[in-house]
This record gives sequence, structure tokens and C-alpha cells, in this order.
Amino acid sequence: MQESIKVFAPATVANVGCGFDIMGFALDGIGEEIIIRKTETNALTVLPVRGFEDIPTDPEKNVATVAVKAMLERLSVTQGFEFEFIKHIKPGSGLGTSASSSAGAVFGVNEMLGRPFEKKDLVEFAMEGEKLLSGKAHGDNVSPSLLGGFQLIRGYNPLDLVNVSFPENLYVTIVHPQVEIKTSEARKMLRTEIPMSEAVTQWGNVGGLVAGLYTSDLDLIGRSMQDVIVEPIRSKLIPKFDEVKAASLAVGGVGCSIAGSGPSIFTFSKDEETAQEIKLKMTEIYSEAGIEVILYISKIGKTGARIID
Ligand code: HSE
Repeated sequence: MQESIKVFAPATVANVGCGFDIMGFALDGIGEEIIIRKTETNALTVLPVRGFEDIPTDPEKNVATVAVKAMLERLSVTQGFEFEFIKHIKPGSGLGTSASSSAGAVFGVNEMLGRPFEKKDLVEFAMEGEKLLSGKAHGDNVSPSLLGGFQLIRGYNPLDLVNVSFPENLYVTIVHPQVEIKTSEARKMLRTEIPMSEAVTQWGNVGGLVAGLYTSDLDLIGRSMQDVIVEPIRSKLIPKFDEVKAASLAVGGVGCSIAGSGPSIFTFSKDEETAQEIKLKMTEIYSEAGIEVILYISKIGKTGARIID
């Protein structure tokens, strides 16, 4: 077995409006790096993460080591590994940073072990990290971080993943206002029962969004992204959400919603010029409000977790 490996795992946008817990896509070149080293022990160890000292180094409390442990137990392997995470995005952004850690870690260890699992089979292990963090083993961030592209989770029992094709020219502008929202808290706010009329609207939109992606119908994508169940509740936690959404759509955005559990907001657009205009609007709104932001423009990343060294 090689001594060490360096991997990249992309950040992701989950839910994509109407697809709570069942849809997500990878960003292109935005994400995190992980160096994994083989050790002489059988323990999993995590180095303190530079700039993010709150991230647990206890392997029982770290999302990535919990995910790797589940995988090693399945294989009855007792080899130890050390993990060094190089984070570029703050946790609590809504861009699936913990999912990138879990996805990258299971991907890297699987490579070092000689690839006993296919990449798609790693999703269920990476989901153990999400379970630790939010109480629910959802896969809408970890599946695109591992597999890239736009992923639909058709079903959880058993896990049934669909790789959805998407228009080549689709851009995404993301604004990350510098307030933290914990996924666990943002999930507790949600209703456990929803009226039939809302469910009907929502599943119509899910079908419309998938059809729009497959046929590159941007109007259909835009009008299908409407989320009548989760966004109206969670958007209250995000300063300036309504203004950002209205301004993004007014300058040509195809559809706008919360990235994951927030606070990041994302808007699709048909070309880079529109994506830049949206970025400008987002910057103006938050600068007037005195709220610091980080902005990204990306396409949907076609490649998921990969070796970079
Ligand atoms: N589907 C998840 C949620 C994504 O919205 O809570 C956040 O990790």
C-alpha cells in the first residue's frame, strides 16, 4: 500500500430548490483537499485543521473518520490512517463542507486499499458522517461530492442514485453571507407533516426540474425550482434572502434558492455574463446591509472526488 495520498473533493449544492434531501450537484474546482497517510497503528487520527480549530479531532466525533470507520469495519480491515484536512470553505456555509470531508476521506482510503469498493458504493459510508452531524444519513451532498455532476437520490432504501444530465452552459452564482447555520438546527425547524396540496406542487416541480435538466430547457428548470415546503421556513434565517432572490431573477437568473441548509444562496444562469451580473447584485445588497460575504461563480463540476497527488 502506498504511504500517502492527496485527494480533492468538491463542495456541493444540495436540495436545488424543490428536491429536499434527494438532489445535489458538485461545484467545479471549489472544495477541499485531504492528505491521508498510512500509519503504523490501527487507529484513525485527525490533525487539527488549520484555521478551523473547532473541527473535532476525536475520531468518534469527526464526520470523516466516522465514515471511514464504517467502511473499514465492513471490510474487517484494521489498518490505521492519519487525516490532514485543508479547508477552503468555512463549515456551516450550506455548501456541504462536511460532506466533502467524508466523501474525500472514504474515497482516498478506498484508493489506498486498492479500490475494494466502486465509487458509488462509497456513498452509504460517507452518509454516516452526515448522520453524525445532523441526525439523518442524507446523501444529497455526499453523492455529488463523490460522483460529480448532478445526482438524484431516487430512493434511500435501498440507495438508488441517478446521474442526471444537465445543460453544458449552466452557470451558478453563490453568495455565502458570513453567518453560520447549523444543519441540525435548520432541520429541526421543518414541519414533519405537509398538506397534500403542497406535496402535489412540490413533486410536480421535482419532475419538472429533472425534465428541464435532461432537455436543457432553462425556463422549465427555473419555474420548477420553486420550493414550497422548506425554503419559506429556512429563508427567514438568511439575511436579505428575499431581496437577493428578487434581484438575481430580475437580471436574468434562471432560478434561485438556498444552498443546502443555508446560509449560502445560489442562482443558476444561462451564461457567465449573467452569472457576473448576479454576483454584482448580491455584492451590492450585502454591502449596503454591512454583511460580509464570499462569492463564487462555477459551472456544475463533472468530476467528483479525485486523486491530485
Ligand atoms: N438536505 C440537507 C438539508 C442538506 O437541507 O438539511 C444539508 O446538508
